[in-house]
Amino acid sequence: MNASLRIPVSDALRSALGELLDGLPPRQAAQAVDRLIASYRGRTPTDAPVLRDRADVAAYAAYRMPATFEAVRSALAGLRAAAPGFAPRTHADIGGGTGAASWAVAEAWAAAERQGGPPPRTTVLDWAEPALALGRELAQASGVPGLDGVEWRRTRIGPALRIDDTDLVTVSYVLNELTDEDRAAVVDEASRAAQAVVVVEPGTPDGYERIIEARDRLTAAGLRIAAPCPHSARCPIEPGTDWCHFSARVSRSSLHRQVKGGSLAYEDEKFSYVAAVRFPADPAPARVTRRPQIRKGQVLLDLCAEEGLRRETVAKREGARYRAARDVGWGDAWSPGAAGR
Ligand SMILES: C[S@@+](CC[C@H](N)C(=O)[O-])C[C@H]1O[C@@H](n2cnc3c(N)ncnc32)[C@H](O)[C@@H]1O
Repeated sequence: MNASLRIPVSDALRSALGELLDGLPPRQAAQAVDRLIASYRGRTPTDAPVLRDRADVAAYAAYRMPATFEAVRSALAGLRAAAPGFAPRTHADIGGGTGAASWAVAEAWAAAERQGGPPPRTTVLDWAEPALALGRELAQASGVPGLDGVEWRRTRIGPALRIDDTDLVTVSYVLNELTDEDRAAVVDEASRAAQAVVVVEPGTPDGYERIIEARDRLTAAGLRIAAPCPHSARCPIEPGTDWCHFSARVSRSSLHRQVKGGSLAYEDEKFSYVAAVRFPADPAPARVTRRPQIRKGQVLLDLCAEEGLRRETVAKREGARYRAARDVGWGDAWSPGAAGR
């Protein structure tokens, strides 16, 4: 297909999931989502997959994949901004399920293909065969470069996990499903095998804690933090007082509206993440950690900067800087000025 005629990856995902939903009786899909939500809510890790059959997996994909795709897409944008020269040739998506992170990777480095390089070669590793089978179906029908060549490999995450050396590893919305030992094992194996590791979790206090645990293991293994943090030193948040998280806007599907009610066309997926690399990177000098507050004649920015957490007030008289502050969003990079300017 001619590159200029290609539809954006997010639209291709939406249309693939729309077709999937068309094939599902609406009541059955809504019931499967309810069951999954209940089983994720009450869940402690077990030795059997939650996604047991095609109905579970189709419901998971239709209900959650657009959100996990958007969260990973934002995390990859953080990595790319800090490491613009990095274009992975190989990618392992551990606990990749139906492949949301692989779609985000295919989109993020589609540019490499336009410059003549091939898209990243992805391997999705997961223990749930029905998830791999549906992921393969969606990817092969997508027409998105790189997704048709993905390898879908049944693998159990645990202390025995071994993956081939690779440029990039993603671990998205998986740590929550693992025992302490398996969580440590997957992060350690990722940091051994990869040049860059991106871990994404729900933007809850627990999700943030798991990200910090992963971050500590990644830096202990010699990787440096590329995003979202401006440095690789300890996170300045006092444990238990707050949690670092961001927000990605997701268009709602008809299944969403059916399960959650209401008519909103979108919802905001809250997520926490860390991207760490084995090569030099240029992290943001500071990151906006909350939605900026726009007041009369000033913008208040809560920042995580190299020296720690702080608030910067940008006043209208600062001209271009004020206009930049009005445009900056939660999760964006920011160049801090002198305090109180
Ligand atoms: C919430 S889903 C996330 C899927 C995908 N990464 C995403 O972002 O949409 C969690 C995935 O982790 C997989 N998983 C959980 N425990 C696992 C284990 N011990 N070994 C392999 N896969 C596991 C599940 O089968 C499921 O596909």
